[in-house]
Amino acid sequence: MPQSPNPAQPEPIHLAEKLTQFHQHWSPRVVAEMNDYQFKLVKLLGDFVWHAHDHTDEAFLVLSGQMEIGFRDRTATLRQGDLFVVPRGVEHITRAPQECHALIIEPRGVINTGDSGGALTAQNDVWV
Ligand code: NI
Repeated sequence: MPQSPNPAQPEPIHLAEKLTQFHQHWSPRVVAEMNDYQFKLVKLLGDFVWHAHDHTDEAFLVLSGQMEIGFRDRTATLRQGDLFVVPRGVEHITRAPQECHALIIEPRGVINTGDSGGALTAQNDVWV
């Protein structure tokens, strides 16, 4: 299993190449850390689960494809190159009718399913 890089000798991180190293949907993979934040690649397909993160905002940057972030009163559509910050404590669901690749930026230790749990809860700190 890949380990976190040596922070004393940083190297460029090739996101496209990293995306070839895993295929599982809804299973974020860490590619970098900055202070106590992590940058995670994720592949989305279908509907995730409704959840909220009580202690942190959560940012999505779409790398390819298109995704939706659903809220109880509206839906945001994100296309390649779009950035969206989900506010802490706000219930949301991510959806992707076709496969979408995104970069998630959030503090280390955030659970992907937030307060909801369930089968789509991913292991944390899995690097590619
Ligand atoms: Ni979330």
